[in-house]
Amino acid sequence: MPVPKESTTGRFDDVHARSLADPEGFWAEAAEDIAWIERWDRVLDRSNPPFYRWFSGGVLNSCYNALDRHVEAGRGDQAALIYDSPVTGSQRRYSFTELRDAVARFAGVLAAQGVTKGDRVLIYMPMVPEAAIAMLACARIGAIHSVVFGGFAAAELATRIDDARPKVLVSASCGIEPGRVIAYKPLIDAALSLATAKPERCIILQRPEEPAALTPGRDLDWEAAAAEAQPQPCVPVAATDPLYILYTSGTTGQPKGVMRDNGGHAVALKWSMRNVYGVAPGEVFWTASDVGWVVGHSYIVYAPLLHGCTTVLYEGKPVGTPDAGAFWRVIAQHKVSTLFTAPTAFRAIKRDDPAGALIGNYDLSSLRTLFLAGERSDPATLEWAETHLKVPVIDHWWQTESGWPMAANCIGIERLPVKHGSPTKPVPGWDVHVADGEGRKAKPGEIGAIICKLPLPPGGFPTLWQADARCREAYFDRYPGFYQTGDAGFVDEDGYVYIMARTDDIINVAGHRLSTGGMEEVLAAHPDVAECAVIGVADPLKGQVPLGLMVLKAGADREDGEIAKEVVAMVRERIGPVAAFKTAVVIKRLPKTRSGKILRGTMQKIADGQDYKMPATIDDPAILSEIDAALRRVGYGKPVE
Ligand code: COA
Ligand code: AMP
Repeated sequence: MPVPKESTTGRFDDVHARSLADPEGFWAEAAEDIAWIERWDRVLDRSNPPFYRWFSGGVLNSCYNALDRHVEAGRGDQAALIYDSPVTGSQRRYSFTELRDAVARFAGVLAAQGVTKGDRVLIYMPMVPEAAIAMLACARIGAIHSVVFGGFAAAELATRIDDARPKVLVSASCGIEPGRVIAYKPLIDAALSLATAKPERCIILQRPEEPAALTPGRDLDWEAAAAEAQPQPCVPVAATDPLYILYTSGTTGQPKGVMRDNGGHAVALKWSMRNVYGVAPGEVFWTASDVGWVVGHSYIVYAPLLHGCTTVLYEGKPVGTPDAGAFWRVIAQHKVSTLFTAPTAFRAIKRDDPAGALIGNYDLSSLRTLFLAGERSDPATLEWAETHLKVPVIDHWWQTESGWPMAANCIGIERLPVKHGSPTKPVPGWDVHVADGEGRKAKPGEIGAIICKLPLPPGGFPTLWQADARCREAYFDRYPGFYQTGDAGFVDEDGYVYIMARTDDIINVAGHRLSTGGMEEVLAAHPDVAECAVIGVADPLKGQVPLGLMVLKAGADREDGEIAKEVVAMVRERIGPVAAFKTAVVIKRLPKTRSGKILRGTMQKIADGQDYKMPATIDDPAILSEIDAALRRVGYGKPVE
């Protein structure tokens, strides 16, 4: 599909208006693109607000729609998945027929372990095709997958195991990061010793880079089990049955289990491929992310396959595998039409190859569009990508909870003019508003909390896994009738959305969503730490990185540097390397308001070298200059002139 020229005919606005005026009609029409076993009774069940259910009474199978359906329609020989792994020096191609057969067989492995409809399967895997195969195999038999990102540590894995209570855990012997092999088995063993809801069985994919010693009676070898398995057919599931649980950072160390249903998810994702991304079936779609994140669930696995596209599953980095030309090599070699990644990946490439010299070594004529999400696209990075790739670069905004974009330039409907710094307009189905400090509708240009009017469109999360009360409290109570996104920003006179910050303690590190509250819990557990705060500070590569400030207990008589090193190691050990927590400083006191609230925002401004106002309610103004000095010693704050 060619990318249209920019225009403002009002066509996009009309489609958006229709989606809000008649959601039932709009999404029933979109649902015709999905193969149903039984059609729905009600397009939208509004009987239990704020919990809405799409396509109730409908019956389908998500795996059938992603694989079997395309084989039956004549796409059997087309590539469904291309695995490209510069870290292992290997590539593999699966046609739709081959992927369907591998999935059906692995579904047989799960079924042989007693996994049936509604059972949970936890998937803790690196970026190998078997991760997608395991997800689709769950969908095939109606089991609920919960994928945990490989960069999380054993304790995080254990928390998720205890919440999801999986029957089976699927993993691999190791993951591969540039320059090091990460043995997964010790992480799994540690997680299982911490967890109380231990799965009965672990199925381990042995990788030649570092095979694992299997625990007899508990672990099964993937290959051996698959060789004996009976391929399974697709089982009918209700549209409202859960397809997966994906844990995301909450405001404490206890992650939120975002649930996704089968019917609404399939309808929304399929619709988004043509209308948001402007992609046709048969084209090659590449999302350079990880299956452990929502972006990976939706746009590495489900959406491209539901649409009959070829998806690329890339086990590598934007730089260093082997160089800043890695993305261009993949695009040229697999004829990628659409690339989707996080701005941080482009900042890494720009840092290593500022002039974009490596781009000239590859034929990028297949590339039509670049989509960016996961964090705010800074205009400098966006302009660099536009200049060097000479294709439209589209920032779009979404979250684990939304499952698909909430604001985007929907090039499949009408390509609107780009405004740098904005992910353009709310996507059809999403009714985005801004609330001011008093909860009233903010004026154009006025910053406030971004909220979405309920019901959310199909694909949006129906609730948190077995936690309706927490879901209400976290998302629905503050603004009745709306979903509170946790983001702050504004909408301008033309209806363009701008996402500026979070309203909670979430920070965004290299496109990864992390809770500073969760990190504070780890620091506070150090025996010498009396009080602490973790803030997100600006980082030229990762957007933000966490930084810890600690007040020591009276009588703690060890070197500050030693304690800082220990808390850094503790965060890596308990949350994982992905937290990128590398700096902690000891200070005498934390700045607080007279009512005892820690002034994190002021400390963040000091760390970023920005001007700040002395908060009127601060209990001890002198403390700020001490913090400034402490932060300068570790390379933050305003550079000394
Ligand atoms: N398993 C184990 N460890 C992992 C891991 C995994 N799946 N993924 C990352 N890590 C580790 C890294 O090795 C690194 O460890 P280190 O502290 O020993 O160096 C740490 O976690 C941080 O990783 P990462 O955030 O990837 O930073 P990086 O410095 O290795 O690379 C970028 C920086 C920008 C190249 C990288 O973040 C990137 O490619 N980002 C792409 C964007 C993306 O995928 N976003 C997801 C949402 S769309
Ligand atoms: P996650 O749930 O991990 O996908 O993270 C979602 C959060 O990332 C959002 O709530 C935003 O804070 C941030 N985010 C994602 N996409 C964008 C974007 N295009 N612009 C600004 N922030 C974004």
